[in-house]
Amino acid sequence: MGKLQIGWRSPQVKLFHLAVFRSKKLNKSVDMVNTLKKNNFEELRPGIKVPAQETILTPRFYTTDFEAMGKMDISVNEDELKAILKEFRADYNRHHFVRDREFEQSWENIDGETRRLFVEFLERSCTAEFSGFLLYKELGRRLKDKNPLLAECFTLMSRDEARHAGFLNKAMSDFNLSLDLGFLTKSRKYTFFEPKFIFYATYLSEKIGYWRYITIYRHLEKNPEDCIYPIFRFFENWCQDENRHSDFFDAMMKSQPQILNDWKARLWCRFFLLSVFATMYLNDIQRSGFYESIGLNAREYDKHVIEKTNETAGRVFPITLDVENPEFYDRLETCIENNEKLRAIKNSNTPKFLQLFQKLPLYISNGWQFLRLFFIKPIRVDNLEGTVR
Ligand SMILES: [Fe+2]
Ligand SMILES: [Fe+2]
Repeated sequence: MGKLQIGWRSPQVKLFHLAVFRSKKLNKSVDMVNTLKKNNFEELRPGIKVPAQETILTPRFYTTDFEAMGKMDISVNEDELKAILKEFRADYNRHHFVRDREFEQSWENIDGETRRLFVEFLERSCTAEFSGFLLYKELGRRLKDKNPLLAECFTLMSRDEARHAGFLNKAMSDFNLSLDLGFLTKSRKYTFFEPKFIFYATYLSEKIGYWRYITIYRHLEKNPEDCIYPIFRFFENWCQDENRHSDFFDAMMKSQPQILNDWKARLWCRFFLLSVFATMYLNDIQRSGFYESIGLNAREYDKHVIEKTNETAGRVFPITLDVENPEFYDRLETCIENNEKLRAIKNSNTPKFLQLFQKLPLYISNGWQFLRLFFIKPIRVDNLEGTVR
């Protein structure tokens, strides 16, 4: 198994900085004004936010078996992968991520709880994009000699993710904070996934990313008065990057039909769909104030994104989840209630060892809900192969 070797001074991080900090000058004066505003976040150094604590619900960093990935025979679907590479090379968003004059103002009007939720949204999004950057960059580097076609696809996707993460990190600095991405690279734990799990997970996170961004964009297009910060205007072209990335993983999985067409594949796809949907739902409902601040109802927004992602995933996965089954959201709501109780216990004055006993039944209930959700009968879509889906 190959390990990620990425450090603060590594070529990955240097390249990232080159890609990202081109727009620095434009906002210097605004930054100076903004530094006067006090933040309520814990800071690593002045203006550098302590990364959010890692939990089961925070974005993960991944590593994989580079050796096995390099040995993959992609000949069955090479033409589609070549066509996708051509799209990546075209680099449609080369000039898209440039901060314009609308950013040049004070954002002190976004304050209190909304400000906190805004920074949290930017941080979570930035961490997720940066995690994609690290993984794709490393894959591009490791596969260079073994499979140049895949290597170039990964390198070009890492170019896109660097832009996305950098743009978000720069947005954080409008709120007087940013993330030290070098520190994040070194300090985070990396989850090892064998290649097929990387494909299921990254396909879904790219696809759900597409639906999240486009749904926010379309809503704000119709309700411009809710667009309280200019980053959302960039989401239309941005989500096209994510869509192209998910098309790449779709094509990659189709080049390895053995990971899509047996009972194990059906179980794993079920597991990944459920994990991705549940994580997003639990995260977003907990932060519904953020969605409210841009005129969205978090529950309606998430249900729409889940429905769309589920439906789209059915074009490649052998199953989709029965998200129409009322039990699906009922059980997720039980988890939300459990998590609220868990937070209340954590913030109470009860001694730690007693807290454990209070928390235990709630953890068990969450596990039970997840298990029951997993056993809701999924919808087979692979028998539709050959028909228009
Ligand atoms: Fe991205
Ligand atoms: Fe992406």
